[in-house]
Order: sequence, then C-alpha cells, then structure tokens
Amino acid sequence: MLQDDKILVGKGENPVYLLPQMANRHGLIAGATGTGKTVTLKVLAEGLSDLGVPVFLADIKGDVGGTALPGALNDKITERLNTVGVDPAAYTPTGYPCRFWDVFGKGGIPVRATVTDVGPLLLSRLLGLTEAQYGVLNIVFRVADDNGWELIDFKDLRAMLAYVGEHRKDYVTTYGNVTTQSVGAIQRALLALEEDGAETFFGEPQLDIQDWMQPGPDGRGTINILHCVELAQKPLLYATFMLWMLSELYETLPEVGDAAKPKLVFFFDEAHMLFADAPKALVDKVVQVVKLIRSKGVGIFFITQTPSDIPDEVLAQLNNRVQHALRAYTPAEQKAVRTAAQSFRANPNFKTEDAIGSMGTGVALVSMLDEEGVPTVVEQATICPPRSSLNALDAATRALLTANDALYAKYKDAVDDRSAYEILDEQNQAEAAEKAEEEAEKAAEAEAKAQAKAEREAERERKAQYKAMGLDSQGRSPLERSLQKATKSTVRSVGRNLGRSITRGLLGNTNKTVRNAAGTFAGNIVSDLLGNLF
Ligand SMILES: Nc1ncnc2c1ncn2[C@@H]1O[C@H](COP(=O)(O)OP(=O)(O)OP(=O)(O)O)[C@@H](O)[C@H]1O
Ligand SMILES: [Mg+2]
Repeated sequence: MLQDDKILVGKGENPVYLLPQMANRHGLIAGATGTGKTVTLKVLAEGLSDLGVPVFLADIKGDVGGTALPGALNDKITERLNTVGVDPAAYTPTGYPCRFWDVFGKGGIPVRATVTDVGPLLLSRLLGLTEAQYGVLNIVFRVADDNGWELIDFKDLRAMLAYVGEHRKDYVTTYGNVTTQSVGAIQRALLALEEDGAETFFGEPQLDIQDWMQPGPDGRGTINILHCVELAQKPLLYATFMLWMLSELYETLPEVGDAAKPKLVFFFDEAHMLFADAPKALVDKVVQVVKLIRSKGVGIFFITQTPSDIPDEVLAQLNNRVQHALRAYTPAEQKAVRTAAQSFRANPNFKTEDAIGSMGTGVALVSMLDEEGVPTVVEQATICPPRSSLNALDAATRALLTANDALYAKYKDAVDDRSAYEILDEQNQAEAAEKAEEEAEKAAEAEAKAQAKAEREAERERKAQYKAMGLDSQGRSPLERSLQKATKSTVRSVGRNLGRSITRGLLGNTNKTVRNAAGTFAGNIVSDLLGNLF
C-alpha cells in the first residue's frame, strides 16, 4: 500500500515505510516457517509495482501466484487494517500485472540461458567439479570463446569437451594442462546433470532481462514470478539459475547511481540454498555483485529462515530488514536469535531479543533506511495485508495467463542455431572425408604397384616357358621369326606407297577408288606371301 509515494510495510508504535529511493539498498526478510515472510514479500512487491517498479521473485511453494488476483476484505484483513491504521473503507483489493516464468516451461514462459552465458564458475558448482576439473572447464570455455564457437546447450559443451580432450596437446602451452581424467569426470558430471533435467534450462532463445522491465498495461510494474516448485527440488540448479540472473542484471544494466526509485527489485527466496556449501570464490562473487548492483538501480531482498543462513559480508549489505519470529530451542538457535537481535538499532521500549521469540504471524521487527540512509529504530510492526489474493493460483489460470502473455511466443520454442556442436561436427566430417580420400589414394597406389609386380612376374614366367620350348622371348620359332621379317619388309614398302598415294589423293583430285585399289593391292600381296609360305 502506498502512502505519499512510500510503501507502507506495517505499523508498530509508528508506521514503517520502505522508501523507494532506498529500495536499492537491499534487504532481508527472515523468520521461521509460517511466520509471514511470503506475505511480507507480497506487500513489498505490490507497493513497488504500484510505484511502477518491476519486480522479480521466485515462487518456491507456488503460493505467490495469487498476486494476479484481487484479495478480499474479511474480518481478519479488516482487523489488520485497523491495526496498521488504514481505513478498511479505503482498502481496494486488486490483482497485479503478473508474468509467470518457469525453467521447465510448464508453469510459465520458458526461461533459458546459454552455456556460454552461464559461464564456467556457476557451471562448475552445478556440476560439483573439483578445483582441477574447474581449471579444465575454464580452458574449454576459453578455447570456445577464442574460436568464436558459441556454447548454447549441453550438446555444444559435450562436443567441446571431446574436442579439447582430443587436441589437448595443442593447448598445453597456450592454455594449460588438460588431462583425460578431468575431461572424463566433467563428461560424467554433465551426464548426471542431464538426467536430472537441467538440460532444458540451457538453450536459446535466452531470457532477455529487459523483458522483465516491460510495465503492465496500466503502467504498474510487472511482477515477474518464477514458478519454481519443481526447481526448488534441485537446490543447486535453483541457486545457479538465480545467480545467473543476478549477474545478467549486473552485466546488462547501465549505471544509474542513486535514483528516485529502483529499476528493478529482485527477491531471492530460500536464499540459504544459494550459500549452502558455496565455495569461497562464489561467495566473493555474490558479495561483489550485491555491492555493485545497487548503482545499477537494482535492489535485492534475501528471504530465508534465519539471518545466519547468509554470509556476514552479504548480510552487511542488507539495510532494509524485516525479521519475523524465530524459534530458539537449541543453543545454536538461541545464538542465531541473539545475532539477529543485535543487527537492529535498539528500541528503548522493548527488548529486541525477547520480541523475536514472541511475535505472532504477520508481525515482525522492522527497520528500514530513512531519507538519510540511516536505519530507523526497530519497530515491532504488524505487517499490512496485501491487496491481492492470499490464495495460490490454480494451474489452469496460470496456464491461461501464460498462453495469453505477449512474450509467450518469443520464448515458447527452443531454437538450435549453428554453434560449437555443429561447427565441430562439420569439422570432424571434413577431417574424416579428407582421411578417407587419402586412404583411398594410398590403396589405389598399392593396388597398381601389386598389379605391375604381378605382370612382371607373369612375363618372366612366360619367357622362361618359351625358352624351355626353344622359342624366342616373344614365343616365336626361328621359322616364324624369319617369315615375319620378310612380311614386314614387304608391307613396309607397300605401306610407304599407300601413304604417298593417299596423301596425294587428298591434296589433288583423287577418289576412294585409288585407295581401295591400293588397299586391295596391299592385301593381295600379304595373302599371296602367306599363301606361299603355308
Ligand atoms: N501480513 C499479513 N496479512 C495477512 N495475513 C498474513 C500476513 N502475514 C501472514 N499472514 C497469514 O499467515 C499465513 C502464513 O504466512 P506466510 O505464508 O507468509 O509464511 P512464511 O513465513 O512464508 O512461511 P513458509 O516459511 O512456510 O514459507 C498466510 O497464509 C496468511 O494467512
Ligand atoms: Mg513462504
């Protein structure tokens, strides 16, 4: 709910507001299960949308979709409105311009990213690689990048791994060592990930983050809801995906400095999934992104059960805080409560630590940044009711909204353009054809050689046989040889006459008769001679 262009979050002794100009200073919504975190998120998202600020949030349990539908004024809501100082008559239930997304393409518009874009660091974590294997994956990406071969999907990555594995000797000096064991391990990890269904996320058309910024038809900010009931079952994929989107926002948005309101606010639910077992390199990257993204006009709100789920360096960046009730049974939980309490600027009217354990549903300790950027004294505030429905959205309505969404056609079908797999496949085929041609040439050469050898041998054998029969090398008896000699000299002299006469005839005015007569004449001589001999 807006009051004087400020988002009314709730009310303790005083109303507490999220100031639009401070929404890029990040925030935290923490609390035990069922204490009201998701509804607080809805209240903030609605207020931002009312200000024309687009929002992105992950719907882990499938209970945020109702934001598309108007809420209803019932006794509970009326009581809550009275507590927060809003006249129930002024409460106008409304649905918000929601757009649904889904990595698996079932509960919303498909969201995809290319392997190249996700990059080796996030992918390495997703694949559960060791340092050494990460090094090899890095080389694979660099070889692909340096050649301009895009890695769109897993098919491309697989082809690229095989290629670098085969040509690893060529890359030792320029890129570093690549072992077949590492390549094999990455290939196996990739296979496991494929079997886990992660493949659908990697592809094109890649999500254009700018599409989140498209306002709703009435100018309100679009509430982009990532439907991730299924994705949340795969914590690493979820974390990878959310981190990719954060880095994408960071990479694509221009610097805006401190603006009157943010460009986008990103709610990162179940944030503990992001940091569980995260390597230091990754946490460092997240800290860096969280610090720097603020100047791009992006606010990030982490939502988790206890603040201790989030690394201290990240926590230190979260200035707008809503702490719902925490349970403190074990010593570790008690410590977490103490730490959470200490993070607030104390209110002399109550003990923060005691309040954390005793607050009811939809009540929270709230401290937001004031106009000066200073955290307000903590209030034990009843949180506003949302204006949209608290119910979950049924799958049929969500599917209908998605099918009618103007962006659906753009992302509906995956496209598989020419990329590393196709390029390497063509290269392999060309190489194979060249090899086959060379081999065929070699085989023909060898065959010709063998044939010549066989002919020589046959000739030698024939000559030996002639010799044994008393014949000359051409198989003639002495009589045949002298007879042939005599025939040849006669034919030669006749032939010479024939040649002359034809030539002359052609130049002069001679006709066939002369040639025929000559031919007959020559033929007669030969047969006469032969007749005389036999
Ligand atoms: N501000 C509020 N206004 C109206 N009802 C609320 C409010 N906060 C909480 N509730 C009620 O409490 C219920 C539980 O709240 P919510 O779903 O936000 O808890 P949660 O902390 O997100 O739980 P979980 O950890 O299980 O996701 C809501 O369904 C709603 O009925
Ligand atoms: Mg919740």
